[in-house]
Amino acid sequence: MRRNISIVVAAFITLLTLWTGTAAAQVCPGESTWKNQRGSTLHIEDIDTEGKITGYYINKAKGYACQGTPYPVTGWVLEGTNTITFAVKWENTVENCSSITAWTGFFNKDCDRLTALWQLVINGATDPSQIIKGMDTFTRVTQTQSDFIKKK
Ligand code: BTN
Repeated sequence: MRRNISIVVAAFITLLTLWTGTAAAQVCPGESTWKNQRGSTLHIEDIDTEGKITGYYINKAKGYACQGTPYPVTGWVLEGTNTITFAVKWENTVENCSSITAWTGFFNKDCDRLTALWQLVINGATDPSQIIKGMDTFTRVTQTQSDFIKKK
């Protein structure tokens, strides 16, 4: 009888945690490629055991400089969750835009979409109103598409 009660209690707790979402320990894949609505691509090369991201970003957004070449990405995912932040300093051997963008957002539960708000600061800004803000929605690119993008 006591055993039955334990089983019922355990089942109830499992259902409750699933329902409230507290048991949704989600880990999206490390190495992956993402493309946003502006045509830019985020290439995550590694997420280490502490959640630190390394990779590169290729900007293809209309109306912005520093286009078409890779810029290093650093960032974090909160391990076991769907939250992510990453940043790009727009400086490489090809072009220096004297600016930095930071994105913060989340993966959806299927790990195939990443929604993030961003802020872009250009060197010389002296007022918060000069910080450019926006939202990017990234869709996960398949391995084949990713290989194609890399060859381009
Ligand atoms: C610059 O123009 O100073 C550097 C390039 C900025 C590109 C921005 S970052 C946010 C938005 N999302 C993109 O994919 N590109 C633009």
